[in-house]
Amino acid sequence: MAAEYLLQVTGLGKAYGHHTVLTDVSFALTRGERIALIGPSGSGKSTCLRAINYLEPPTAGDIRLDGKAIGSRGDGRRMSDLELAPQRAEIGMVFQHFHLWPHLSVRANVSLQPRKVRGIARSQASRMAEAMLAKVHLDHKVDEMPGRLSGGQQQRVAIARALAQQPKLLLFDEPTSALDPELVGEVLSVIKELAGEGRAMVLVTHEIAFAREVADRILFMDGGRIVEQGPAKDLLDNPQSPRLKQFLASLSRGGRRDG
Ligand SMILES: Nc1ncnc2c1ncn2[C@@H]1O[C@H](COP(=O)(O)OP(=O)(O)O)[C@@H](O)[C@H]1O
Ligand SMILES: [Mg+2]
Repeated sequence: MAAEYLLQVTGLGKAYGHHTVLTDVSFALTRGERIALIGPSGSGKSTCLRAINYLEPPTAGDIRLDGKAIGSRGDGRRMSDLELAPQRAEIGMVFQHFHLWPHLSVRANVSLQPRKVRGIARSQASRMAEAMLAKVHLDHKVDEMPGRLSGGQQQRVAIARALAQQPKLLLFDEPTSALDPELVGEVLSVIKELAGEGRAMVLVTHEIAFAREVADRILFMDGGRIVEQGPAKDLLDNPQSPRLKQFLASLSRGGRRDG
């Protein structure tokens, strides 16, 4: 039987030595649900996303994807990267700075993971890459090198690459913060299209209008904790905590977009 929640994060904690970065972060995502994670720079948003697929192994808590504990072998020992690979393949991640392989074509960038992790044959992976690139409206760039694309196009390739893994969950970490303003729209509209397909997502973003439109729920983080969470419109229109009020006010004054 399928688990009730697609993603269940319970009591997540992360410390670097004595520096505690995440404290008791808990939330759950149903199938097809979209959560936006907002909060000031340094509040732990990236660490939280990276902990979900064990890019940053958490120091406390439990993460379950479809009921299966991520990173846990059941005997208390940490999984190796090799053991983690199939679990990570279920989670597509899109970073602020794209992280495409500069020496590989767009096609190779998108088809590499499915070939490595899912063992898909080269010709099939290549056709899948074309299909995923069509979803981000870049099928005409399939044989281009990443360096010849705009930042917005590179980010769309990174999204196609995440989709090619056939993940159950997509994680976006500030996918538009590194882009020139005129390129932000094309990336947000691709993410909106994916949201329209009912894909489950956790989005870290400072684009509040976008979060309102795309997210079912918003979590506000500050100081490594979830300070407030709720349905997107409620939380944005009727913030309760002083910190969230202050944060939203700073954004509407044109505050920092990085983080
Ligand atoms: N590798 C690391 N070692 C030590 N501290 C880190 C490391 N990565 C992040 N941090 C600290 O964790 C806190 C949260 O960072 P981060 O998750 O990047 O926040 P956000 O994405 O909300 O801006 C910051 O204080 C940052 O300095
Ligand atoms: Mg960050």
